Amino acid sequence: MNVYFLPNENIKNHQIYILIDLLRATSSISALVHCGAEEIFVTDDIDVAKELKNMGYLLSGERGAIKLEGFDFGNSPLEFLNNSDKIRKKSIVLTTSNGSKAMKKINELGDTIALSLLNFSSVVDFIVQKDFQNIGIVCSGTNGVVSLEDSYLAGLFVQKIMEKHTYNLNDGAKISLNLTKSKRSYVMNSDHSKRLKNLGLKDDLEFCFNIDLFQVVPYSKQNSYTFKNLI
Ligand code: MLT
Repeated sequence: MNVYFLPNENIKNHQIYILIDLLRATSSISALVHCGAEEIFVTDDIDVAKELKNMGYLLSGERGAIKLEGFDFGNSPLEFLNNSDKIRKKSIVLTTSNGSKAMKKINELGDTIALSLLNFSSVVDFIVQKDFQNIGIVCSGTNGVVSLEDSYLAGLFVQKIMEKHTYNLNDGAKISLNLTKSKRSYVMNSDHSKRLKNLGLKDDLEFCFNIDLFQVVPYSKQNSYTFKNLI
């Protein structure tokens, strides 16, 4: 089991990929699936997202963590939850600053699951049950820089899986395991956490640190860039 702190590492050759962008793309994807979205198409291209509006997609996304003009929603798990009636059975397109770029790289290489704290145990149970031999856990980071919260979640995931299954770990996985000793308050003071607080998004930040609120496994088949719930 390998952990990569940034998507531009050599992430090839895994049977299954776990995508992490705790703040906030994979938390948003988990929330959207929980709200009953039919599918979530992820793209890093705002124009591609806009084109899908004509095909009935709802538009969601951000740049610099701020909702895009003319979009139905930002990239806020709380906003999605508060609008679940509008989201149920709808196709959604999500475009974000970092998570979508990571998704583009990863989903080209293999099937991909979106992991957040909000759907932590559902993904753990699924992975353990499937008995995958070769798991690649890829953190999105922020603007090309490693992020503490993604690395911390990667460590929690490795730790939990290792309670049930033995894997060889790369150095990234071993480093991430050490981060699990960190206090939640320490992780919630990461660079991107501070950015969200400064933008008045403290509620969203805190919400993303809830564990197991949702029983969902957002799964995207290789090259589809589209998450659907598996359970
Ligand atoms: C991203 O993909 O960069 C993030 O999800 C940014 C955000 O907090 O909205």
